[in-house]
Amino acid sequence: MSRLPVSSSEYRKLSNRIVDLTAEYLQNIDKLPSFPHCSGQQTEQLFGGSSPEDGLGEASLEAMPDVFANGRVTGPRFFGYVFGSGEPVAALADLAASVLNQNVTAWRSGPSAVAIERTVVGWLADAIGCKGFTGSLTGGGSSANLMALCMARERALPGASRTGMPRDIRQPVIYTSAEAHMSMAKASAILGLGYDAIKLIPVDQSFRMDVTALDHAIDTDMRAGKVPVAIVASAGTTATGSIDDMEAIAEIARRQNIWMHVDGAYGALAAMAVPEKFAGMGRADSVSLDPHKWLYQPADCGCLLYRDSAMAQQVFAHSGDYAKSLISDPIEGFAFFEESMELSRRFRALKLWLSIRYHGMRAFRESIGEDMRLARHLATRIAQEHSLELLAPVALSAVCFRFVDAPAGTDLNALNQQVLQTVIDQRKVYISNANIQGKFSLRACIVNHRSTTSDVEAVVTETLAAARAIMARTAQ
Ligand SMILES: Cc1ncc(COP(=O)(O)O)c(C=O)c1O
Repeated sequence: MSRLPVSSSEYRKLSNRIVDLTAEYLQNIDKLPSFPHCSGQQTEQLFGGSSPEDGLGEASLEAMPDVFANGRVTGPRFFGYVFGSGEPVAALADLAASVLNQNVTAWRSGPSAVAIERTVVGWLADAIGCKGFTGSLTGGGSSANLMALCMARERALPGASRTGMPRDIRQPVIYTSAEAHMSMAKASAILGLGYDAIKLIPVDQSFRMDVTALDHAIDTDMRAGKVPVAIVASAGTTATGSIDDMEAIAEIARRQNIWMHVDGAYGALAAMAVPEKFAGMGRADSVSLDPHKWLYQPADCGCLLYRDSAMAQQVFAHSGDYAKSLISDPIEGFAFFEESMELSRRFRALKLWLSIRYHGMRAFRESIGEDMRLARHLATRIAQEHSLELLAPVALSAVCFRFVDAPAGTDLNALNQQVLQTVIDQRKVYISNANIQGKFSLRACIVNHRSTTSDVEAVVTETLAAARAIMARTAQ
């Protein structure tokens, strides 16, 4: 008899303790330090060690408060990277999804889960102006981008998914901007095209792809016999949130018959609030977007949308006999694994479905709009401070800036690096960094449903306090 089953009364007791712990955490989330008071050595000590041979039973939960106390808090003053704030109704759905433990491979393995995922994918597509697109939820934007480029490769090099890269292939090229996310280069490497297949097109003053340069690069490459595989437009670059001119890019892609993918992992969901900024996105062949970023969902929850599911099937449907469906009904016969690189998949859709049902689309749209307002407010506050400099226009909700009030000859990159570390060490707000045309930039990215005006103002006060403390120390 297995030692593993727990009784329902034991499960109830354990889950109540976990729920209490999470409720207390959420109650205090605005008071917690923005980075835990811990070192790498301490976390090794706390969580290292060998696996217990005999179970601790309920006492195993005694370590859970340490897990919470040593986690980085995504509270209202978390503005690092591009990472959503973890909506709690969705988190509860994640618990339910794990208990239900559906394997969202195909309808027959999880009827409700498959139906719900297909529904929420449709909701997302409609919400961002890609009506009629289908797709699936993914672990994140990186895997969505990989799957999209896999389809693009098949379009450009028919049969490559079956037979591998043709031996006589001339150099394949993926066009994207110099500001594109690193997942493009990774995807290109994984797909056998190599990092070098990525051609980075320069950007303009607003960090948007220079479409004239794109057009020219494609013409030149085609004349040289190279094979364009895809044009990847960014709908919100990671550093500055800039949005490429997707109408112009769609036009080039159509004229040259090249697959157009939009990396909207950061920004695409903002089309719910400001659709006019995303004109042309609906003309793409595929779009990736990340509900675990700007729809505030707990990780993991990315999404790939595509116009033509036949292409997804051409690339990903490779079912072994053990997975062959014997069902003819189109709903009951549906299999995500025939359109995705994943087979076993968790029930990611439940969190999205429940939190959208609970709050309604309007609440999410308004919250995204509010994040953008907060970003504009922060940019205005920065512009008012003579010792701070805004380094890029605020297209969405990423604000890049630096401290500049230093004696002539000061290495501003080194100084701002110190400022960032000091701000993080102070633990009042959490920001990250970017490289803006060679300048080390402080960066606050607001994709946080908990933040308020005073929270973003703390970015300014904390930066100034840190910089002044550093300047005072160096003057001594
Ligand atoms: C523009 C962009 N694309 C792709 C990604 C990768 O997304 P994920 O971290 O979900 O894999 C990111 C992550 O920040 C991003 O900002």
